[in-house]
Amino acid sequence: MTASQRTRLQSFDLDEIASHGGRVIVFADRETPLPRATKRADRITKGAVGRAIASDGFSKLKSGEGLTLSWPSGLQAEALQIIRLPRKPDALALRRAGNSIGKAHGEKTALLCLDTLPAREILQAALLRAYDYQAQKADPKPGFGAFHIMLRAPDTAEADIAEAEAMARAVHLTRDLVNAPANILTTTSFAAQIEEMRGLGLEVEILDEADLEAHGMRAMLAVGQGSESPSKLAILHWKGAEGPPLAVVGKGVMFDTGGVSLKPAAGMEDMTMDMGGAAVTVGLMQALAERKARAHVVGLVGLVENMPDGRAQRPGDVVRSMKGDMIEVINTDAEGRLVLADVLWYAQEHLKPAAVIDLATLTGAIIIALGHDKAGVFANDDGLASAFLAAAEQAGEGAWRMPLDPAYDTLIKSRIADVKNSGGRPAGSITAAQFLQRFIKPEIPWMHLDIAGVTLTKTDSAHAPKGASGWGVLALDTLIRTRFEES
Ligand code: BES
Ligand code: MN
Ligand code: ZN
Repeated sequence: MTASQRTRLQSFDLDEIASHGGRVIVFADRETPLPRATKRADRITKGAVGRAIASDGFSKLKSGEGLTLSWPSGLQAEALQIIRLPRKPDALALRRAGNSIGKAHGEKTALLCLDTLPAREILQAALLRAYDYQAQKADPKPGFGAFHIMLRAPDTAEADIAEAEAMARAVHLTRDLVNAPANILTTTSFAAQIEEMRGLGLEVEILDEADLEAHGMRAMLAVGQGSESPSKLAILHWKGAEGPPLAVVGKGVMFDTGGVSLKPAAGMEDMTMDMGGAAVTVGLMQALAERKARAHVVGLVGLVENMPDGRAQRPGDVVRSMKGDMIEVINTDAEGRLVLADVLWYAQEHLKPAAVIDLATLTGAIIIALGHDKAGVFANDDGLASAFLAAAEQAGEGAWRMPLDPAYDTLIKSRIADVKNSGGRPAGSITAAQFLQRFIKPEIPWMHLDIAGVTLTKTDSAHAPKGASGWGVLALDTLIRTRFEES
């Protein structure tokens, strides 16, 4: 569910607290005097707000968490949410405050009595948490209500609000793409949706199977050859600055059955999310275009479907990659690295990039290593890796550095070809990253993000309801601001 109405900025008016009809949100902390809006709400409710703040329940709240008074007497609102927040909240507390507001948010408008609190952080976190995927319901709920933000100085916050909305829209787009089932979002419909992004000022190229064949991208084509959906490479250019681009490459396996090395039935439905890397890439490109980033970034997404079929590749097949390396396909379920091998090589040959970042729901092994809270970060460049870890921390997205080491290459040595696509169970995420590194020119700064664990969550998280998380859009946008953007 996306916002049905746009956020409204308004100047501070204490009388609104009594007259607003949807939800009203005020802030309080025990140690400091109450903000003026909270004081007014306390006066209208004849001290109910003060009693709530003095309660045991309130004392147990973390900064940014809140409690709700339903049908508070004296107010037109159906709910008054009181968020615990210190006078000078840190980034985490602001994010939590927004998440608490978004989680409780529904179809009615919410009046946020921010006064001097930072609107951007709170609004962005609220919009992220208010998301609700309704696209597959026969009778979808209408979008959620607008946020009406009361500020002491509303005029200075316009740009902040626009940016928070753009970032939330980008994360929502990524989540919509990941949540979409594979019969609806196919290689063809995904590519068509990407083509419509030209309207945002992005330059879009779509390479079809004949083009991929002409470029010698046999490793990628082999993955899709058992599917009725044609394989495609979609390229999105955002040229907000001169100079060599940052290339962002996403794995876009629309559905991963495993191919002839078929996956077990239990849980296979989750493999609609195997295009998560492509979804983050596309969401990020939308964010950059919407906020007119002063950076040169090219997004490349390899779109394929991995199906078992009479034409599908077999275990034991050997395919020639675009680079020229011959790959022995030990396991057709290790397909993501075959797609990436060719798209990474294409990016380096055709764009001469300043750096390459790839995102992929690449291995189940990264879930064994890191669970669902942190993505695996592999990089041949310490500066890039540490800048990304800092950006992820700032964005509230979990990430953890994993090793690369030629020692692991013995696990993917092929008897008959140059490399094999599976090293078996030991260090499964690292051998996958080592495989990808074969297709990276040594002088190119490169980072690989294994997002298999963080793309889809089984339970609600702080900033998203269960389902697609949109992990990575905010962290990569932050990285681009700090490292790839002119000021
Ligand atoms: N798409 C899967 C990885 C995955 C697993 C993503 C679970 C999300 C949740 C990938 O294509 C895959 O099947 N990897 C294999 C590799 C193995 C055959 C070497 C795996 O992880 O088992
Ligand atoms: Mn697979
Ligand atoms: Zn896969």
